[in-house]
Amino acid sequence: MQIDLPGNLCVVGLQWGDEGKGKLVSLLADPQGPCGRFDYVVRYGGGANAGHTVVIGEKKFAMHLVPSGIVWPEITAVVANGVVVDPEVMLTEISELRKKGVVVGKNLKVSSKAHLIFPYHKLQDKLSESQLGKGLIGTTCRGIGPCYADKATRTHGIRVGELYDRPYFKEKLERIVADKNCIFQALYGEEGFDPQEIYDQYCSYADQLEPFVCDTTELLHGALRKGERIMFEGAQGALLDLDHGTFPYVTSSNSTSCGLFAGAGVPPGCVSSYLGVIKAYSTRVGSGPFPTELDNQIGQYIRDRGREYGTTTGRARRTGWFDAVAVRYSAAISGITAISVMLLDVLAGLETIRIAVAYEYEGRTLEFFPADVHVLEKVRVVYEELPGWQDEIGDIRSQDQLPAEALNYLRRLQQVLECPIKIASVGPEKGQTIPITL
Ligand code: IMP
Ligand code: MG
Repeated sequence: MQIDLPGNLCVVGLQWGDEGKGKLVSLLADPQGPCGRFDYVVRYGGGANAGHTVVIGEKKFAMHLVPSGIVWPEITAVVANGVVVDPEVMLTEISELRKKGVVVGKNLKVSSKAHLIFPYHKLQDKLSESQLGKGLIGTTCRGIGPCYADKATRTHGIRVGELYDRPYFKEKLERIVADKNCIFQALYGEEGFDPQEIYDQYCSYADQLEPFVCDTTELLHGALRKGERIMFEGAQGALLDLDHGTFPYVTSSNSTSCGLFAGAGVPPGCVSSYLGVIKAYSTRVGSGPFPTELDNQIGQYIRDRGREYGTTTGRARRTGWFDAVAVRYSAAISGITAISVMLLDVLAGLETIRIAVAYEYEGRTLEFFPADVHVLEKVRVVYEELPGWQDEIGDIRSQDQLPAEALNYLRRLQQVLECPIKIASVGPEKGQTIPITL
């Protein structure tokens, strides 16, 4: 199998996350895989809110923080500065990986500039959600938003590198925890935290993480100079982007490819391929507008067949038809050069399949996605209906063996998205992948 994705590559989800990036990244990162060898796989944003499932033979890995490329010994996995690092999660993942026989040593690098998640971030996330009632965001409660907020306010953010100046870290932590405790008590009547306990805990984390910590910006620039090949692994999905997604029902980082340059410190010109990952339908976890949502039997059919339950939180995902208005937009923002359609097998058995091709709003037709919840809540979706196919396609390995209706569906997706589809996935195993040329 050969898939043409030249140069440095960015893989980004174009919907609301969970598009199957984990499978794809580990497939593409395979040195014997379909698009040649990569030297680095880099996470540039988000944190342990992400959930990447990677299946290799009998082994299944569920990773949140460590880039999925780690499973290949030839590859260096990099957690770059834009990621918010929960050291507890990271150390647990490292030990789980080691238990499953994956070597984790010099092949893992963590940026000294990445911000750290502390227990108070997680509590803040939970308490703030609990106050929102019906308007809750439905976060993963991993402390992501509060941590990025502290980074932006500057006075309350702590970076990985700061753990290694113990007196400085201690003093800073004491000041911050005192502030946080005031807020917890005043707003929520909560006790708060003992700074000494957090300090001891984080000193122990710091010791365990030390072998991995470095200036990943310098590392990546060195790699670029040597002509080594890099894959950037996006987390979440483009429609959850803090700026370009359905604010406020978004995550707190730039999950489009825009986040890559700030989140890894590399120049825009260094990436030549942008692979957009989509599901053959749509899903969303948590709150927020979802114009093509199917709150009915078809939605449940898709949820069951697609195993649409979150890897991070276990929540049932909301399901719906493919939304080409939304994906055309997110593909444009991310500069997508090729598309991979995941979970195509899930749609087998449906009589007809719909694609959202436009929205109607206040008597006008919108072809450009309005990333405004007030508009999105009121749009009427214009669908195109295509014939479905009945036979299972999980065992199919080449495009010409796909049912005509499935191929026709891909063809139509490619037309409405105005971007070439190069891969179709028909199951969770790496082998269940079909190179596509339409
Ligand atoms: P947060 O990132 O935990 O703050 O959650 C904000 C929103 O993004 C919520 O709707 C989450 O369900 C969603 N979200 C965050 N990470 C992921 C992901 O990896 N997949 C899908 N949804 C996510
Ligand atoms: Mg996920």
